[in-house]
Amino acid sequence: MNPKEFIRRRKQLMRMMGRGSIAILPSSRVKIRSRDVEYAYRQDSDFQYLTGFAEPESVAILVPGRASGEYLLFCRERNKLRETWDGYRAGPKRAISLHGADDAFPITDINDILPGLIEQCDRIYYTMGVYPDFDQQLIGWVTTLRNKSGSSAHRPDEFISLDHPLHDFRLYKSRAEVSAMRSAARITAKAHKRAMNVCQPGLFEYEIEAEFLHEFHRNGVCAAYPSIVGSGANSCTLHYTGNNRQMQDGDLLLVDAGCEYNYYAADVTRTYPVNGKFTEPQRAIYDVVLDAHQAAIECVEPGRMWNEPHDAAVRVVTQGLKRLGLLKGPLAKLLRTEASKKFFMHRTGHWLGMDVHDVGDYKVADQWRVLEPGMVMTVEPGIYIPPGTRGVAKRWQGIGIRIEDDVLVTRDGCDILTKDLPRDADAIESLVGATLRSS
Ligand code: GLY
Ligand code: MN
Ligand code: MN
Repeated sequence: MNPKEFIRRRKQLMRMMGRGSIAILPSSRVKIRSRDVEYAYRQDSDFQYLTGFAEPESVAILVPGRASGEYLLFCRERNKLRETWDGYRAGPKRAISLHGADDAFPITDINDILPGLIEQCDRIYYTMGVYPDFDQQLIGWVTTLRNKSGSSAHRPDEFISLDHPLHDFRLYKSRAEVSAMRSAARITAKAHKRAMNVCQPGLFEYEIEAEFLHEFHRNGVCAAYPSIVGSGANSCTLHYTGNNRQMQDGDLLLVDAGCEYNYYAADVTRTYPVNGKFTEPQRAIYDVVLDAHQAAIECVEPGRMWNEPHDAAVRVVTQGLKRLGLLKGPLAKLLRTEASKKFFMHRTGHWLGMDVHDVGDYKVADQWRVLEPGMVMTVEPGIYIPPGTRGVAKRWQGIGIRIEDDVLVTRDGCDILTKDLPRDADAIESLVGATLRSS
């Protein structure tokens, strides 16, 4: 991302904070997988959003109006030995010359330097509860300032949650962010097609997952979340990640997988018959979900409220299940009693961005949020009928279907970022197993 983007974001936040404020953001921690093996490091989204600095053991400081520099970075010092083993470390000098900080210090000096900066401010912007160790450190610094002798000692007396304003900024995607999300969507769509093309009975779910990993990694990106590859009854488990069953003729396969491109996620689900041909009951349920998806998409435009796509999807799912005999009774009553929740138990979408379930309030002053250009959300209705569901004929059991796309609210409607990936049943059928047929 262009460095100007980070400058713009910091300026936007500092304008909101005003003089006399300080914002403090720690980087995310290195997490241990087992013993001395670490998980792949992923920077904290808020920290990354403001700094573009990808290293652990860093703390970013913003002090609007500070004459000798508004953006300060504490980071690891350079270390020849550690760099031999682990690779690049910017170090304070390069944090300034290459990474945009106005001033930078070794992280080991934070105890000596940060309290002095805090002391000069009236308000501290900080998000409590994410990094408990750092919370304690900060409380320690503030307590020391409070206990400092002399009534003239200045100290901040206001703590303001940083995540509220910051997450509101993150909800509105800039041109550069939309461009990253389009790239995530493009690679993800390619991966889904690739998986459909090789799908056939006898493969294991993890072989489908491998197609995603291959396509993601060959494009230099990683999975934004653990892929869900659920065949047969597994398609009815919403967050199934075992991915180890052998797929059978006649199964449906639900695949929910997306990549993260430059810290921006795609989140896409397609469901298809493993053998390339929906059975009649599978197709009937599929078309209900597809209609619900379409109805929801039609509600994604500026001025509509957040819940409108969901309400539209619930109505279509309820009507469809009633038509197929899975729900019985007057439509109005079924809607009032939320009868469809038995089969469609999640919401129709969520914000999408640097996090898969992205930040941003869904309600403002107790009212559903009004959709505005720049917001990105998923649209993902589903119907799940696990084996053994009481009161449901056998032929419907084991069907789990979700169709999920990523949608940008535009000035005059919406743009489906993942539109290149077919979703209607005939098009899906022609993609499944295509590699096999052409060989
Ligand atoms: N992949 C998780 C979700 O669809 O919300
Ligand atoms: Mn989703
Ligand atoms: Mn998903």
